[in-house]
Amino acid sequence: MSATERSHAEALDAADPLAGFRDRFVLDDPERIYVDGNSLGRLPVATPTLLAERVREWGSRLVTAWPDWIELPERVGDLLAPLLGARPGEVVMADSTTVNLYKLAAAALDARPGRRAIITDAANFPTDRYVFEGLAAREGAELRLLQADAVEGPSAADVENACTAGDVAFVSLQHVDYRSGALADMEAITAVAHEAGALVLWDLSHSAGAVPVRLDEVGADLAVGCTYKYLNAGPGALAYLYVRGDLQEELRSPIWGWFGQRDQFLMGPGYDPAPGVARFLAGTPPVLDLSAAEVGIRLTGEAGLDALRAKSVALTELVVELRDAWLAPLGFGLGSPREPGRRGGHVSLRHEEAWPICRALLERANVVPDFRVPDSIRLGLPPLYTRFVDAWDALDRLRRLVEAGVHHEVDAAPARVT
Ligand SMILES: Cc1ncc(COP(=O)(O)O)c(C=O)c1O
Repeated sequence: MSATERSHAEALDAADPLAGFRDRFVLDDPERIYVDGNSLGRLPVATPTLLAERVREWGSRLVTAWPDWIELPERVGDLLAPLLGARPGEVVMADSTTVNLYKLAAAALDARPGRRAIITDAANFPTDRYVFEGLAAREGAELRLLQADAVEGPSAADVENACTAGDVAFVSLQHVDYRSGALADMEAITAVAHEAGALVLWDLSHSAGAVPVRLDEVGADLAVGCTYKYLNAGPGALAYLYVRGDLQEELRSPIWGWFGQRDQFLMGPGYDPAPGVARFLAGTPPVLDLSAAEVGIRLTGEAGLDALRAKSVALTELVVELRDAWLAPLGFGLGSPREPGRRGGHVSLRHEEAWPICRALLERANVVPDFRVPDSIRLGLPPLYTRFVDAWDALDRLRRLVEAGVHHEVDAAPARVT
């Protein structure tokens, strides 16, 4: 059966062992095709229930509930750990990805005195680059930007070449590239950075919940990521950080907050970092956010990452096949790696008129993708709730819309959020 037949997608859905998970999410408009779960994941049905329970606890128990809440950052971190290939005690929920990047980057720089270079990818997500730029300016370090292939992302050879001077404190890259969806070779890159004496800090924002991650197995040092994408924890949800067990005693957070303090409620005279990953906590954790993260992480764990990854590869394959068949003649390039093992959970399509096409998809076709400058339409296909017919219908609506020139009829003025 050809991929261009809708019945092909229907057959894949009928055989999908994860199909039942879709009903665990709020689906308010059955006609809308949501292909932006790599930006903001859907709301799990169980989330409002748990949040309501925690709000009731707040109302009835007030401060007496804190003994039950206070360890949530570590407890939820331990729930997440297996999805990242980490052990209990290596992951903690805290702050935003941006703030966690700063904390771990500063700690890594301090841990490598005499080494003043930071390596990242010129195409890395902006917040990562800005955090390192600011840190380098403050610490008198040098930020070096790798120029890698725009679609394939940085390779181990790129990193090796950037580390030859022997002055690199740490290398930081995304595991899955936010624009192209390229999946980095974490094992090989970590190995070459270690060979050069550098630490490695991974941004897992686009991989956690979509791609199996093996932090411990590959000897990764540090990692951060968000939970509002594939982990479905909600808009602006709490992020997480990972510090490999044997590095924890050696590293210090640049923010000496009381939640990172040993024996916090002794209110000691000076800062003494808590043992373990908790030393990277800063202030009072947001209990409602932690509860939303707990629901999303449990759902992902229940589905199992191997099954999620298998479906994710099949979904992105379908998009690539339909791009080749329908969209290549309409001027759409493939902005993601063609080899399925080198892709994460989204596919980028490149087109000269990507922005008006995105607007038209939203306004005229009830398809929700997103746009990334200069020319990428990202189609995110979280396997927990995306059906094969969703992928098929999204591409079908897209090709019809472009064939009919509907994107020339919409208002394509720049927008605050793309
Ligand atoms: C790779 C990556 N890092 C970081 C972020 C955002 O960080 P924050 O949650 O601090 O805004 C994003 C957001 O999309 C991202 O894709």
